[in-house]
Amino acid sequence: MAVSLPVAYLNGKFLPVAAARISPLDRGFLFADGVYEVIPVYAGRLFRPADHLRRLQSSLDGIRLQNPHDEAQWSMLLERLVRENGGGYQALYLQVTRGTDTGRDHAFPQKTPPTVFAMASALDELPAAIREHGVRAITLADIRWHRCDIKSVALLGHVLLRQTALEQHASEAILLRDGHATEGSASNLFIVDAGVIVTPPKSTDLLPGITRDLLLELAVSHGLAYRESRIPETQLHRAQEIWLSSSTREVYAVTELDGRGIGDGKPGPLWRCMYDYVQQYKTALLSAAP
Ligand code: PDD
Repeated sequence: MAVSLPVAYLNGKFLPVAAARISPLDRGFLFADGVYEVIPVYAGRLFRPADHLRRLQSSLDGIRLQNPHDEAQWSMLLERLVRENGGGYQALYLQVTRGTDTGRDHAFPQKTPPTVFAMASALDELPAAIREHGVRAITLADIRWHRCDIKSVALLGHVLLRQTALEQHASEAILLRDGHATEGSASNLFIVDAGVIVTPPKSTDLLPGITRDLLLELAVSHGLAYRESRIPETQLHRAQEIWLSSSTREVYAVTELDGRGIGDGKPGPLWRCMYDYVQQYKTALLSAAP
């Protein structure tokens, strides 16, 4: 579990996370009426903040909630949160809900200020055991709603899917919708098929991952062949390699799916290349002037 770092932000104030309080009438609490972002911080610097803030805007647009801050205000707020928590390697979590109403009513409230909350937790490197051996995953029917492109705080579907995977001794659930694999319960999906990297195209079936974009950029800059196309369940099961990507875990390999080995049962050679490219990219970024 990622334990929160001590300082949080709530509605204009920096305060100890243990002292942060919201009302039970907050629409985030009553209706999961809000959206969120998770932004990695490397050596005190936010990674691709503009991309994360653009996706936040698109999630807010998706739920028809006005953005309470412009990009400069978000940057100031988030950079201060990083400093207050001692810099270094962090995962920032931010959440915007439709605010606290005077009662419980499904209809949007009028003129209620949104609730803005942010906190940080330590960001650890991908564990050596996962780098070496990869992880187990299982496939599950995608029980989530039809707007998986919105980073909504309504994560009950994701939570139930992930828990089912854990109870079956797997790290992640790869989700199937209409006979196709879309993404993981908290990650994007890549496979290697006949030497080509394949990932499902962006759609309302999956979250447009910031790490997913990075991996495709790196594929281009390093001349690796890739394709954005839907992945039928049968293609997933015969993949040479399977990878998952997210802001907190970068890119890691699935080496066992539904109890059967993928490739030779070890993280594959293209995953190894991509993992190295991501590390080189981060190193170059950190050595560049801020
Ligand atoms: N989850 N798909 C889903 C359903 C996710 O929840 C996530 C990330 C991703 C990957 O997106 P990105 O590369 O932008 O992190 C894809 C975050 C980390 C979370 O909920 O904690």
